[in-house]
Amino acid sequence: MGLFSKDIKSMDDLFVHTMRDMYYAEKQIEQALPDMIEKAHDPQLKQGFQTHLQETRGQSQRLEKAFQLLGMQAKGVDCPAIDGIIEEANDVAGEVENKAVLDAALIAAAQAVEHYEITRYGTLIAWARQLGRNDVVALLQQNLDEEKATDKKLTAMAESKVNRKAA
Ligand SMILES: [Fe+2]
Ligand SMILES: [Fe+2]
Repeated sequence: MGLFSKDIKSMDDLFVHTMRDMYYAEKQIEQALPDMIEKAHDPQLKQGFQTHLQETRGQSQRLEKAFQLLGMQAKGVDCPAIDGIIEEANDVAGEVENKAVLDAALIAAAQAVEHYEITRYGTLIAWARQLGRNDVVALLQQNLDEEKATDKKLTAMAESKVNRKAA
């Protein structure tokens, strides 16, 4: 944001700003996941994080494709929200001693990330549709579907065993 002028003047600007926010978020998540893979104790959880790391890389590529369709260079913009969610996850994980409890904490942290992504992609899809960019909608929808599926898998793992082992 400029000091003397407001940089977001139109809905198009707001859309691009939020696309950059999300691109930055995916890159931060890509960097955070290897640490979560290492910390996870349950093999299924470890594998789940591993799978989502691959998906996350693909999601960044879809965003790059979307920027390309918009005639722009893919560029991130600081997203304090995702930084905060990841920072809190690291803080809590650092405090947990018991392995089973740590897995429950990791799932909770991962679901906070997924829910952030779900809300952002939901908004971006609505705006892209409104702006008549159905080509971009299709790419964003694939990312949203993966985030939702990941969130569901995490809920299933937590409720079927991880929470019980931790309690
Ligand atoms: Fe993602
Ligand atoms: Fe995700």
